[in-house]
Amino acid sequence: MGHSCVIALTGKGGVGKTSLSAAILRILTEEKPGAKILAIDADPAVGLSVALGVDVKETLDDIRLRVARDVTEGLNETQDILAEAKFRLFEAMQEQRGFAFLAIGRPEAAGCYCAINTYLRQVISLLVDEFDYVVIDGEAGIEQINRRVMEKVTHLLCVSDQSRKGIQIISTIKEVSEKLVAADKVGAVLNRVLMPERITETEIGGAELLAVIPPDPMHAENDIEGRSVFDLPEESTILNGARTILAKLGIL
Ligand SMILES: Nc1ncnc2c1ncn2[C@@H]1O[C@H](COP(=O)(O)OP(=O)(O)O)[C@@H](O)[C@H]1O
Ligand SMILES: [Mg+2]
Repeated sequence: MGHSCVIALTGKGGVGKTSLSAAILRILTEEKPGAKILAIDADPAVGLSVALGVDVKETLDDIRLRVARDVTEGLNETQDILAEAKFRLFEAMQEQRGFAFLAIGRPEAAGCYCAINTYLRQVISLLVDEFDYVVIDGEAGIEQINRRVMEKVTHLLCVSDQSRKGIQIISTIKEVSEKLVAADKVGAVLNRVLMPERITETEIGGAELLAVIPPDPMHAENDIEGRSVFDLPEESTILNGARTILAKLGIL
């Protein structure tokens, strides 16, 4: 198999990372039939499963807790978790609609987010070669980039709304990722844009502007009703946005 394509969506909270992750996954399943596709919800706030219409049976955090309970003293917990994880993940990853799904889960104990991010980083390393396409819906902010969760990412997407604040975060992500992510490409996506005439730069925060996506009432309606991205009409604005992004990245 060739080099896997690992796409991660990062950015401020509420800018559309989950919506666009789901849209990109739908387009990949349609345009790359037969490809091995993995969706990862890396945000402890969850949401990608709903956007994709997937039932989550066991999260990475569930696996971690169960293995940690089973491990006897003196064993290397991380190694055991990884071995178990590799086996379990294929059970946890429900194959449906042409993709597998893995969620990081919501660590119950306070302060174990960095532990789960460490497992996530190693699990991504273990899994990337098994898939043609991996789409990671990232946690808001730069923590997962700092913790090298995104080190295997080949296409880093920085999503923002039109706000100055959101675009500043793109600059920060671009800067931090230069050392910590070996991405072939770092691109910006402006989502839910109300004033396209106010966008003058082709580079946003130093990243190439890949797509400008207007507000999508059909997507908003879909979200209100709790329906998945697979219920959207083919010509919806957000799906067109996802097509544009993938085309600009040379994936479609
Ligand atoms: N292009 C769009 N048009 C209309 N609503 C959108 C669009 N993109 C995202 N939304 C809505 O904005 C909210 C936040 O989107 P979400 O994808 O959950 O963001 P994030 O994952 O970055 O926090 C959701 O209610 C979603 O339906
Ligand atoms: Mg989200």
